[in-house]
Amino acid sequence: MRLERAGFASEIQETEVTFGERLAAAPEGCWVLDDGAGRLYGYLCAEFWSLDAAAPAARFARDHGAAALHRLDGEEVYVSSMVVDPATRGTGWGRRLFRDAVSAMFARHSSLRSAILIVHPEWQAARRIYHSEGFAEIGAVPDYFAAHDKRLPAIVMRRSGVSCADENRDL
Ligand SMILES: CC(C)(COP(=O)(O)OP(=O)(O)OC[C@H]1O[C@@H](n2cnc3c(N)ncnc32)[C@H](O)[C@@H]1OP(=O)(O)O)[C@@H](O)C(=O)NCCC(=O)NCCS
Repeated sequence: MRLERAGFASEIQETEVTFGERLAAAPEGCWVLDDGAGRLYGYLCAEFWSLDAAAPAARFARDHGAAALHRLDGEEVYVSSMVVDPATRGTGWGRRLFRDAVSAMFARHSSLRSAILIVHPEWQAARRIYHSEGFAEIGAVPDYFAAHDKRLPAIVMRRSGVSCADENRDL
């Protein structure tokens, strides 16, 4: 929750209940950056969904319960959130966390075929990572981000398949 508060404006932070349900219902999607001495410098959360090419907007609801959609044999990994500690940002850890977590989930769960996520139009660091990791914009959820009279869409991004490099990684 310390990282969540450091990562997002209060209007869009998700709750401790939501994170608790992710840990309980979808532990295989929960990843952290750990310094080895117990301090966390980042987290990434994901769920495995049944593949729906239409990617309906309702699926992306903030604070939805992971148990409702997560299936261990799901075909699509939904990366629901990622944060790196502000003190550590800009040094490559965000990219490494994203790449290694997604790669490990594909390596461990053979049913996975694609990956999907949403991103705020102004979150440049995140967008750079997703674009360079092969994600393409496939749509938008209108008015997903609303704060202080400003309403912005969430950009929906998807990457199909997994590269040979990922499949062959020694994890
Ligand atoms: C997104 C986030 C996890 C990235 O972590 P990070 O450790 O800063 O990422 P990296 O250091 O690996 O940098 C990733 C890329 O973003 C670029 N970048 C970093 N900060 C940037 C900024 N403020 N503006 C534009 N680009 C930026 C880096 O140059 C790098 O791109 P490059 O490799 O093409 O040069 C982190 O910025 C964060 O926690 N942000 C707040 C929460 C958030 O936006 N989460 C994403 C939810 S969708």
